[in-house]
Amino acid sequence: MKINLEGQTAAITGAAQGIGRAIAESFLEAGSHILAIDIDAAALSDFQKTAPEKIETVTADVGNYALLKGIAGGKKINHLVCAAAIGSGKSGFPFWNLEPGDWGKVIKITLMGTVNTVHAFAPSLLADADETQQKSVLLLASVAGQIGSQTDPPYSASKAAVINFAQCAAKDFAAHGIRVNAMSPGMVKTAMNHSVYQTMPASSDQSYEEWGSEKTANVSPLARWQEPEELGAMAIFLASDHGRNITGQTINIDGGQVMHS
Ligand SMILES: NC(=O)c1ccc[n+]([C@@H]2O[C@H](COP(=O)([O-])OP(=O)(O)OC[C@H]3O[C@@H](n4cnc5c(N)ncnc54)[C@H](O)[C@@H]3O)[C@@H](O)[C@H]2O)c1
Repeated sequence: MKINLEGQTAAITGAAQGIGRAIAESFLEAGSHILAIDIDAAALSDFQKTAPEKIETVTADVGNYALLKGIAGGKKINHLVCAAAIGSGKSGFPFWNLEPGDWGKVIKITLMGTVNTVHAFAPSLLADADETQQKSVLLLASVAGQIGSQTDPPYSASKAAVINFAQCAAKDFAAHGIRVNAMSPGMVKTAMNHSVYQTMPASSDQSYEEWGSEKTANVSPLARWQEPEELGAMAIFLASDHGRNITGQTINIDGGQVMHS
């Protein structure tokens, strides 16, 4: 199956590293231009050098709606991917290991950063474009948003809200031919995943690799980590004509951790 997104533009937040960058690389391989948005200017600059003619970068905090409005202003895009997110840096088990005051910064970036981005780029998606091209939005959610995960409660709650917002936006955008989906990874080796390990009591006597492998074996039937490239492949499938009948869905790429029966 050949996925061709030539002549199209994807705006991607959290594109400087990890899953967002892997998704951006998949869009590039499919021929798309990228508007890469991230708070990490140095990592963005490194990424931009890999394909200078195809990647435009903007350093921005997704918590700043006015800034995002300015970035989006007057631009036309085909696809929007929201991957920027943060955790609290603290471990639940139980939830009262955190204070209510620990929730605000996570909700500001992980939930409201996503909401800000979709609001800011809605006019860019709604702008007239080649009707032969697909238009789509992909929100990075998490298995944590579907299972009442105790690991980082404000993060889990933010991701649950992201899934709900994807469904709401899918209904509102449908009449305009714009599809909206959420994608939920399970365990992917990234800076964020490593930071979760560092909050765990087990981190003192288990390596990151041991902790993650034990966790994946315990929680997912396929007992394996997910790879960033697997998420990139699904992202461009959903953005392409092959995904034209898929909207309002949460696609779990999690080794079977979450099953609805
Ligand atoms: N890694 C996993 O196992 C996993 C599992 C489930 C869901 N996810 C989700 O996948 C997405 C990507 O996560 P990742 O693991 O690649 O994380 P990561 O920390 O490796 O990358 C996140 C990127 O977002 C950027 N970012 C953070 N705060 C920002 C802000 N305020 N404004 C703009 N950019 C900001 C960072 O600079 C970084 O480049 C996130 O939405 C995350 O919640 C990850």
